[in-house]
Amino acid sequence: MADLKTRYLNLELKSPVILGSSPMTGSLDNLKRAEDNGAGAVVLRSLFEELITDEARITVDSASGFMPFSDAANFLEGASRDYFLNQYLKLVQDAKKSLSIPVIPSICCNTHGAWVEYAKRFEACGADAIELNYYILASDSRITGQQVEKMYQNLIKAARKAVSIPLAIKIGRQFSSLSNMIHVFERLGVDGIVLFNRFVRADIDLESLKISPGMVLGSKADYSETLRWIALMAAETKVDFAASTGIHDSDTVIKMLIAGAKCAQLTSAVYNEGFEVIGRYNNAIEQFMDKHHFSSLNDFIGILAQERISQPEEWERAQYMRVQSK
Ligand SMILES: Cc1cc2nc3c(=O)[nH]c(=O)nc-3n(C[C@H](O)[C@H](O)[C@H](O)COP(=O)(O)O)c2cc1C
Repeated sequence: MADLKTRYLNLELKSPVILGSSPMTGSLDNLKRAEDNGAGAVVLRSLFEELITDEARITVDSASGFMPFSDAANFLEGASRDYFLNQYLKLVQDAKKSLSIPVIPSICCNTHGAWVEYAKRFEACGADAIELNYYILASDSRITGQQVEKMYQNLIKAARKAVSIPLAIKIGRQFSSLSNMIHVFERLGVDGIVLFNRFVRADIDLESLKISPGMVLGSKADYSETLRWIALMAAETKVDFAASTGIHDSDTVIKMLIAGAKCAQLTSAVYNEGFEVIGRYNNAIEQFMDKHHFSSLNDFIGILAQERISQPEEWERAQYMRVQSK
């Protein structure tokens, strides 16, 4: 009988199929459904520091007519922030009480630093690990690549100092030297790296000639860069990699494991097909393992990682040199 257990962030997961962060993981009901359908862990929707700060400001602004004193405004802003934070903490606590699989809250932090306090409070609530969701859209030409990298480093240093539970960072692909950054993250003490986040996209509506939202859900075609980067980095570092983006069928989960991921996070697939996909993927992984006589995931996690293959350049091929034109 195939054993689907895997270790991710020093946690034992009963399956490598994880429900990734999105509004879907913001309710206890959905978290339970994920567990009932066989998820190995759940990553809660991100707590957005910026959103909490904005909401607190809106509350203060709407009450400003009744509150001429700045002390009162400060108090209200603090209370409003606490209200949002407490709602999230309650979700963490309830999930920990109701689920037996690991619960991983996610913080989307900015530079204000309040998120360090949130991380500490997640830990106090019994969170099994924390996922840092961090992204700088480097559109300000005055900020250099080195400065952007420094921001990531400062964030990880502060988080590592604040909590002792395992830490993962979920990142996008846009670094000049992604492999260098991954080694830096490892040295700074992250236990896991989620490759990759897929961010909100903007589009143009040709009828109204206005900016419109881009595709919200991802597609299967999105998975190949995740696969490549997991294969490139998995055996080169000791951090655990979680695959995210484009995982829309069980074959893709299996490919990510073969490349070296310890687990795969699903989001769009569950939005599209419901929580049942988790169970279906687990069954398909078992069938694959039986067919190839693998008894545990460790028998094949990372077998095609770059360090372990005879033609490592296969994962580095980027140009279409030999493709025939029509
Ligand atoms: C509607 C929606 C909301 C999301 N919200 C978050 C979030 O709060 N935090 C986060 O880290 N990722 C968030 N994501 C990104 C997903 O966790 C995931 O990384 C991304 O969708 C790529 O995986 P997929 O191809 O399985 O959708 C969101 C994605 C979607 C589609």
